[in-house]
Amino acid sequence: MKEGFDSPWDRQHMKKIAIIEKIHEDGLKLIDSHPDYEYEIINDVSETNLMQKLPEFDACTLRVSKLSSKILSNCKKLKVISRHGVGYDNVDLNYIKKNNISLLITASANASAVAEHVLSLILSLSKKTLRYDKEVRSLNFKANSKDIQTIELLGKEILIAGFGRIGKSLIKICLGFNMKAKVFDPFIDENIIKSFGGRKINNITEGLSTCDFLSVHMPLNDKTRNLIDYSKIKLMKKNSIIINTARGGIINEKDLNKALNENIIFGAGLDVFTNEPIENDNPLLKNDKVILSPHVSTNTDECLSRMSIETTKNIIDFFDNKIDNSMVVKL
Ligand SMILES: NC(=O)c1ccc[n+]([C@@H]2O[C@H](COP(=O)([O-])OP(=O)(O)OC[C@H]3O[C@@H](n4cnc5c(N)ncnc54)[C@H](O)[C@@H]3O)[C@@H](O)[C@H]2O)c1
Repeated sequence: MKEGFDSPWDRQHMKKIAIIEKIHEDGLKLIDSHPDYEYEIINDVSETNLMQKLPEFDACTLRVSKLSSKILSNCKKLKVISRHGVGYDNVDLNYIKKNNISLLITASANASAVAEHVLSLILSLSKKTLRYDKEVRSLNFKANSKDIQTIELLGKEILIAGFGRIGKSLIKICLGFNMKAKVFDPFIDENIIKSFGGRKINNITEGLSTCDFLSVHMPLNDKTRNLIDYSKIKLMKKNSIIINTARGGIINEKDLNKALNENIIFGAGLDVFTNEPIENDNPLLKNDKVILSPHVSTNTDECLSRMSIETTKNIIDFFDNKIDNSMVVKL
């Protein structure tokens, strides 16, 4: 109970927020500064513990742990789930829709961090940063000969598949590198894409044969699962690079590995995987044409702070009836 707020009335009206998995302290400070809210951090995210702990809370923040209908059916007080991020495939949407539990996302906090991560993968793969580093550490300074092929971004074409928050942030950076951009997103008007400096294509295969880089930025669902498979990768140029920072499964991992081994494309950068954590026998772990990161596109100091503040502010705004519409998932 907060100091100075310990009368029975205060206690009764205090809203309790479960912080499921710790978030950056800036978001917790925001709750601390608010007299009507208190929080408890829940680090044990096992189903048993969440079933036991969550029923006492009015709201919760959520990182990557799963909120199944089995857990949620115990939470009679829960009014709102506030995702620390924008994806929500870890929540049982049917259950929360039926039971009138709202779902919020940090819509404005993380696009730039993901777009920067895409660029870091594109640059590292194009410039063979990891390979050169390894050669110099092995005192092989002769690695500066022509045997190691590298690529420039200048004048190259990127195909951005999915033109929401992250796609829009990415195109600005790419145009800054003097690249050209095609965009595949059936739900975004041609004029909006044009206003960002891109060219809309209506069929993804149209863009695959001309692009030098493909970066996907759409949700994972039945339409997008395996969107990029072997037959699509085969349409791409020999020096092209595929990046996936969206969700594992949009690009078929087995097909990607096969295509890389057959030199059909130049390389790939992956932040997300079909199974997370990645299985220890996943062949991509042994493929040096791919750069891997453990789902960390938004893990910059700055972004973690922005996300934690937005996650907790969303809960307070929700109960104050002033939540920004763009933060609310339409179920
Ligand atoms: N790696 C990470 O840490 C990380 C962080 C944030 C977001 N993400 C993921 O990135 C993806 C994009 O996030 P966002 O914030 O830009 O989402 P967003 O909702 O703003 O945009 C998604 C876009 O995808 C488009 N789309 C939907 N179905 C499509 C299809 N079949 N073909 C082409 N386009 C389609 C939509 O029209 C929309 O414009 C999501 O999958 C999200 O989960 C990953």
